Amino acid sequence: MNVLIDTIDPDDLGELADFHDAGHGTADDFLADMLNGLRQAQKEISCKYFYDKRGSALFDEICDLEEYYPTRTELSILATRAPEIASLAGPAAHLVEFGSGSSSKVRLLLNAMEAPSSYVAVDISRDHLIASTRDLASEYLDIDVVPVCADYTREFELPTGLQGKNVTGFFPGSTIGNFAPEQAATFLGRWAKVLGSGAGLVIGVDLKKPRALLEAAYNDARGVTAEFNENLLVRANTELNADFDLSAFAHDARWNEAAGRIEMHLVSQRDQTVNIADQAFNFQADETIHTENSHKYGLAEFTDMAGRAGWDAPATWTDPNNLFSVHFLRAR
Ligand code: AVI
Repeated sequence: MNVLIDTIDPDDLGELADFHDAGHGTADDFLADMLNGLRQAQKEISCKYFYDKRGSALFDEICDLEEYYPTRTELSILATRAPEIASLAGPAAHLVEFGSGSSSKVRLLLNAMEAPSSYVAVDISRDHLIASTRDLASEYLDIDVVPVCADYTREFELPTGLQGKNVTGFFPGSTIGNFAPEQAATFLGRWAKVLGSGAGLVIGVDLKKPRALLEAAYNDARGVTAEFNENLLVRANTELNADFDLSAFAHDARWNEAAGRIEMHLVSQRDQTVNIADQAFNFQADETIHTENSHKYGLAEFTDMAGRAGWDAPATWTDPNNLFSVHFLRAR
């Protein structure tokens, strides 16, 4: 349920109309997930733990890397296609962004849309959400800017005023690729219901391409992605009192052709034992911790999946090199 929470000083809200909290909280159980993940035959840590303060700053750096084509390519498609997106969204639309982060890409849409009514930013990181929406609200005085603190991968309700209105969702960055296809289809199906029949969804999806380009994007020469990956171990050492020897794990990112995804791993450089909260985990040399999947799609592969989840695909755009795609979907 969305409630106006009373723990925020109204002065902190600036121009913001309202603040909604789905009550999902921000206290992820890092320790429980870490212990459980390291007990699996293929050891794993969820990629959601990448994004502490340092991890988020490293991700911003990744987005500016020469090898990491998705961010600039998606931005160029959004900039070129903004008038078409605006016309598909229609006048006085309510724009809902899932995982709004710093709300940077949305400005391209808000600037092109005809008199948008509101911008609803959904994000789990409460402080970041308030700071970024407050900035946006002071820039766009004619638009109601509504932060919703929620985990968009779980069920949540939109602010009540949106029911039956002209709504368009926004999910950029190919974050959909960080979920298994079955999970991605579940979210798409859920969002079709949350946003309502006739709603739009502007979604960025990274495309399949030659292995060399993909692997370069996740193994950059400056080692920023390696640091981003290894930051998981830094977090475990600082927050969980673990004793990972950072020099004994190496970053690895490889294309898995059969699964259609880039996989990131941390590879143990020798036989070793790591202790976390009184539990010991043995690693053999070359054994890995699987830290992230980034699925890539073909255009029809994605629109077919969206179709099965209740979305028509009236428009699909790519860049001239077919690196990345942006889709305008319409809920049936
Ligand atoms: C956030 N997500 C879409 C990025 C991706 O490309 O899968 C995360 C990332 N991992 C390594 N580099 C970027």
